[in-house]
Amino acid sequence: MRFITVRRCLLAELVLGTPELKILPSQPIQNRPISQSMLLSCRVEVENKNLVTSLQWHDTSGRVIGDNSDRYSVEAGIHTEHMPGGLALIIPMLQERHAGNYTCTAKYANTELLAKSVLIKTFVAITWEDAPEEQYPILNSDYKVRCKVTANPAPMVDWLQNGEQIPPGGRYIVETDGLLIVKATEADDGTYTCRAIVIETGELSERNIRVEVHTPPAFEKMDSSVTVVEANTASVMCKASGKPLPTYSWIKSSTREDLATADRFSVEKHTGVLTIRDISKDDDGEYKCVATNAAGKAERVVKINVILKPRIVTYKNISIATGKEAKLPCSASGRPLPTVTFRKLTSDRFVVGPQQDDRIVVENTRDDERHETIGTLSISNILRTDDGLYECIATNEGGEALKNVHLTVEFKPSFANTPMREAWSWQNNPVNITCLAESIPNATITWHRGDIELNGRYIDNNIRKFGEGPLSTLQILPIDRKYYGQYTCKAANPLGVALHEINLKEARPPSNVLQAKLEVITATTITFSFVGPAENGGLPVRKYAVQYKEERKDWRDARNKTWPVDSPYILEGLEPQTTYNFRFAAQNDVGFGNWAAPEHHTMPKRSYPEEPHILSNSGEDGVVMSPYSDHYELTWKIPADNGEPIDQYSIKYCPVKHVDGHWTETEYQCYTSDLSSAEHTAFVLRALTADTHYKIELRAHNKIGFSTPGEVVIKTARGKYTLKSLDPPVSATEGAALSSGAIVSIVVASLFVILIFVDLSCYVVNQAGLLMLICEKMRGSKTSDEDAKLGSDEKEPLKDAGKEATIQPR
Ligand SMILES: *[C@@H]1O[C@H](CO)[C@@H](O)[C@H](O)[C@H]1NC(C)=O
Ligand SMILES: *[C@@H]1O[C@H](CO)[C@@H](O)[C@H](O)[C@H]1NC(C)=O
Ligand SMILES: *[C@@H]1O[C@H](CO)[C@@H](O)[C@H](O)[C@H]1NC(C)=O
Ligand SMILES: *[C@@H]1O[C@H](CO)[C@@H](O)[C@H](O)[C@H]1NC(C)=O
Repeated sequence: MRFITVRRCLLAELVLGTPELKILPSQPIQNRPISQSMLLSCRVEVENKNLVTSLQWHDTSGRVIGDNSDRYSVEAGIHTEHMPGGLALIIPMLQERHAGNYTCTAKYANTELLAKSVLIKTFVAITWEDAPEEQYPILNSDYKVRCKVTANPAPMVDWLQNGEQIPPGGRYIVETDGLLIVKATEADDGTYTCRAIVIETGELSERNIRVEVHTPPAFEKMDSSVTVVEANTASVMCKASGKPLPTYSWIKSSTREDLATADRFSVEKHTGVLTIRDISKDDDGEYKCVATNAAGKAERVVKINVILKPRIVTYKNISIATGKEAKLPCSASGRPLPTVTFRKLTSDRFVVGPQQDDRIVVENTRDDERHETIGTLSISNILRTDDGLYECIATNEGGEALKNVHLTVEFKPSFANTPMREAWSWQNNPVNITCLAESIPNATITWHRGDIELNGRYIDNNIRKFGEGPLSTLQILPIDRKYYGQYTCKAANPLGVALHEINLKEARPPSNVLQAKLEVITATTITFSFVGPAENGGLPVRKYAVQYKEERKDWRDARNKTWPVDSPYILEGLEPQTTYNFRFAAQNDVGFGNWAAPEHHTMPKRSYPEEPHILSNSGEDGVVMSPYSDHYELTWKIPADNGEPIDQYSIKYCPVKHVDGHWTETEYQCYTSDLSSAEHTAFVLRALTADTHYKIELRAHNKIGFSTPGEVVIKTARGKYTLKSLDPPVSATEGAALSSGAIVSIVVASLFVILIFVDLSCYVVNQAGLLMLICEKMRGSKTSDEDAKLGSDEKEPLKDAGKEATIQPR
């Protein structure tokens, strides 16, 4: 039965065709590139697949290939894998050793052996062995654009430039391993295509190679030497062209030191700038700038010349006698060697050569051994006026150096500035006679009387000498007439001798007063003026004296009064309606002269006071300009009381107008103020109208009555310069019209403002000062009594200060 079934099947297959193995891909020869994986599948083309058994792959030596659990197969790099309807031969990485015949076998219906073979051939695919995608020929040299390709069978290589075929011949030569460019130029830049073809396999592969022709660095025009100045900072350029852009380094030639890491030096790698800070003289020398890029490097030597600033090496004070020649040598170093000139301080410079003043010559000589310039200032026929400071100026490109020395002009003694020609003494009064000799060097002084030198034993107890020179004083106590007379002061220094005479004279009291004139007489006072004595006795009159008595009394009971010279000679406290005798004397340091110039006067009877004298500066028209628009300070001198004390002042002021040469009261009302004390000499008129004339009358009063009025016409200022204004307008004309009182007020106010400013600074900075004190006080007492008492002009700034003070943070 079973046999029959098989038969029937065979029969069926016979009908369909013979059972057959099929390998896919189906080509009997498989030509494959190495290094790739490959898969061959084997299946049986039959209806009833169950009849197929033992489906196997055999390798080139006939061995059955196992699946990937079979060690041997895995080591051989080859294995099988079941797949639907067949068995796959898998070579994960094809190698040349895998080439050969592989056979797939199977049994059909246990009897029929089926087999099918496939030949695997390997080839080597196109491989870029050495064909970098970017290549850089160097300008003007031959370059082979590398393109080494391998394949098996061997490939053919051809070249395209920027997509076009490179024609044969010319500068491009195709070689087996590349394209040779003869003498590359920048025009050779571009994309080259290296194309490989394997005819046998039909394989084609391209590689694009970017070619950029590099240029080695080349220096641009550049100074071969650079000058820099000591102690400064300087930059030295180095610039080269090249492709790619070069980088730079700087090398000091003498030490081979790379300056990139050196102290004080810095190198800009990409710009080539070398910067030297705090240049020293040792930096002088040759430096190499090296520019490097992929195409090569270039070097350039730069000489750096360091200029050394001038220095004055020696220049000394000198001392020289008048008439001689002075030479002031000044040596200076520096590179390049400096030029040396001179200047007398405050005058022009003396350049090299002769000067306008033909006594003066400046020379420069070089001392090559010491690397110095020696400048010499020569002044012949030295005068005393040549004494002074002389500046030596050394100059070169790096700057200048200065030094002063003193030229001392020596000269023989001179008494030109000793004013004392005579001296006075009297009655054992010690006196000093002094002489001062000018000279360089200092003179020594000796004193002489006639031929006798006053030293040692010739100076007795009554003459003492102070100082040997250039200042010397003789203190003389003239106990005797013989001490009076001529003294000779003798000054000597190495350059000469000078003599000076001083006459010591004896002083006497002044002679008689020639005349005493009566100037003013009131009931109780009398004022004199004097015509002085004919001779003052050798010394100035210092005082005048009066001796006076009532007519009926004796001179023994007389009273005296003395006045310093030039004071008001007023005698007070006399009795009205009384006759007095007066006599006078003058006094100098020696003493009083005799009483002389007698006078007698009868005092007037008691009366109302004298007219008070108003103190003011009136303008040309007799009008006093008030610096303020609303007030005026009236001041006056206390008048003589004429025998009864002043008990009151009365002040009347009225607005007035000038009509027909007279000051006429306008319809406005007059004001009157009474001051019930005699102590007053000032009064402030308030609430005045601006730009208005006022006539002021001041009367003094005593028991007997009012004096005649002292009068003044004032004009208030225009505008608003009020009591509170600190800054009255002081124009040229108005300034002249300011009363002394007003000026004092302004000055006081200004000082006060300054004081407050200073104090405010103290307050702010130190929390100290007067203001601080005042603020504390003001905070303490609420009453404004203090304010009220303060002077009018002072009041305002104080308030301000108070305000300021409270704003300040504590
Ligand atoms: C040179 O003279 C000046 C002025 O007399 C003096 O100040 C200075 O010290 C002197 N210099 C020397 C080196 O003597
Ligand atoms: C004289 O000069 C000396 C020294 O300067 C001084 O001590 C003395 O007081 C002077 N005498 C008189 C009277 O000026
Ligand atoms: C010369 O005299 C003056 C004035 O007395 C004095 O200051 C100065 O030191 C003196 N000079 C010398 C060199 O003695
Ligand atoms: C006034 O002066 C004379 C002489 O100078 C003197 O003797 C006399 O004592 C003086 N009398 C009075 C009161 O000072």
